[in-house]
Amino acid sequence: MSENPKGIGSEQVKNEGERKKYQIIYADPPWPIKIISRKVRPKQLDMPYKIMSLDDICKLPVRSIADDKECSLFLWTTHKYLPKAFQVMEDWGFSYNCTLTWNKTYGFTPFSFMWSTEFILYGQLKDKWVRQPGIGKFKTCFEHNPIGHSVKPQLFRDIIKGFCGDKPAIELFARQKTEGWDVWGNEVESDIELTTRTEK
Ligand SMILES: C[S@@+](CC[C@H](N)C(=O)[O-])C[C@H]1O[C@@H](n2cnc3c(N)ncnc32)[C@H](O)[C@@H]1O
Repeated sequence: MSENPKGIGSEQVKNEGERKKYQIIYADPPWPIKIISRKVRPKQLDMPYKIMSLDDICKLPVRSIADDKECSLFLWTTHKYLPKAFQVMEDWGFSYNCTLTWNKTYGFTPFSFMWSTEFILYGQLKDKWVRQPGIGKFKTCFEHNPIGHSVKPQLFRDIIKGFCGDKPAIELFARQKTEGWDVWGNEVESDIELTTRTEK
């Protein structure tokens, strides 16, 4: 593991107190998906974005941008990374509550069932549970057709604000700016800085 020769991350940890804090954190990490080479579909070899190691995802200082009074985390994951996502949630300082399921209506078959769903793990800061205004208003399963590789429907941002209310919110690993949300990611003009200590 890198010794962080450039000191990235330590500066941010030093300035933690000055950081903007959020009560809603919505994240869609670039899980380290390995694309299987297939002669019939060679174009599927490239991911359309950079991926991160699990270690780097787990070490992102997400807790440092969470409002100490209350913060909800909504963390996207796939079937393959579902068990790891629980670890990420834990390492970021949140306690799991429930899973929202996106029924994409169709999917792909990795020599198994047809994987036609993706998931959002929902949790709040450890030992700081706050009742949200949308209690009981939403079920945990939502249907929406896929709209592009790894693109998540706006529906989910709306559900999150519908459930939590219009609180300070940030989307991590965002690819576009959305009204009412700060954003952070390497394909968007970010509102904050966030770096793992192991990144160079
Ligand atoms: C799964 S995609 C997010 C898709 C997004 N939720 C949407 O609906 O369009 C993950 C994003 O994380 C970005 N990413 C990869 N490595 C990153 C890093 N080290 N720092 C910030 N963003 C990164 C990728 O470029 C990609 O934009």
